[in-house]
Amino acid sequence: MAIANLLNNKGMLPEKYRTMDRAEMENRIREIKEKLGEKLFIPCHHYQKDEVVQFADSIGDSLQLAQVAAANKKAEHIVFCGVHFMAETADMLTTDEQVVYLPDMRAGCSMADMADIYQTEEAWVQLQQIFGDTLIPLTYVNSTAAIKAFTGRNGGACVTSSNAKKMVKWAFTQKERLFFLPDQHLGRNTTFELGIPLEQMAVWNPISGKLEFEGNVEDIKVVLWKGHCSVHQGFTVENVREVREKYPEMTIIVHPECCRDVVEVSDMNGSTKFIVDTINAAPTGSSWAIGTEMNLVKRIIAEHPDKKIISLNENMCPCLTMNRIDLPHLLWALEIIENGEEGNVIQVDKEVTKEAILSLDRMLTLA
Ligand code: 13P
Ligand code: SF4
Repeated sequence: MAIANLLNNKGMLPEKYRTMDRAEMENRIREIKEKLGEKLFIPCHHYQKDEVVQFADSIGDSLQLAQVAAANKKAEHIVFCGVHFMAETADMLTTDEQVVYLPDMRAGCSMADMADIYQTEEAWVQLQQIFGDTLIPLTYVNSTAAIKAFTGRNGGACVTSSNAKKMVKWAFTQKERLFFLPDQHLGRNTTFELGIPLEQMAVWNPISGKLEFEGNVEDIKVVLWKGHCSVHQGFTVENVREVREKYPEMTIIVHPECCRDVVEVSDMNGSTKFIVDTINAAPTGSSWAIGTEMNLVKRIIAEHPDKKIISLNENMCPCLTMNRIDLPHLLWALEIIENGEEGNVIQVDKEVTKEAILSLDRMLTLA
């Protein structure tokens, strides 16, 4: 958000919502939802707070939310309860007549912010000098629309944690090497599980503008952007060791944004949908330690009183940016729509969309 907007409070939650009583907010949201009917659609990521999730028309992981956004042709207003890159993706996948809103424009993703387009173009030039035309870019959907456009115009595609393996396999049918951004951990975990040894993976450091690798560059199969999720990087091998010691019967399931060492010593890894589905299908009495964002872990615990479930790290905090979306912000966005006001709209530049869509479509047709 522009600094000028922050200074004059433009784009900030109006004061009246801060003092409004919870029941009143919930009633107003219900009222507006009823009034707008199918004209309104509220997709919600699994990491959202329960107070928001109760109003979701669809809840899912990044892939599911991209798919439902692409499929919905009825809603005029899409109020996206998730983070900025998800709302951008929804905007690009919907028609020009459909408007996408983000209830709090400050709800970004720190991982997506770790790759800007200028650093990426610069990296690409240098990597082409080293590897020639042997690289294909793959970008995690947790990236800006500009990075998706870069990927699209260079023959690559988007991936989510649900379809990363499928997309990596496809990418290797196109080129000899991968340039995976911005999450080094998802890239490393996925390609390692597909049989690429760690010794054939290099890291691109966008700060120094250098390739981190020891050995013969000819051997490199995967170049990983040095980005990470601050939430998932908080799970450690020590957390796994402690859980194993205290609860040897527990199955440990983590998100692939956790680092390689943690995934290595866990029992299973997969997207938020995979985690939700796995626990849903688990037998009564089974026990689980989950390594992902806290709002989701707490919800899974509440929904499964018949199972013993804990967080892999009890001191883990929720994703702070996902958490910015709350009842007051949701109501504010809905009242903006009801009153025909302007605000909180996510609109990706047309030229950027044209190229970014190439990378999203390549994913959605294969996913
Ligand atoms: P999923 O696609 O697994 O829901 O992950 C999105 C995300 O941001 C995880 O941190
Ligand atoms: Fe981004 Fe991590 Fe939050 Fe997911 S959990 S939205 S990757 S900061």
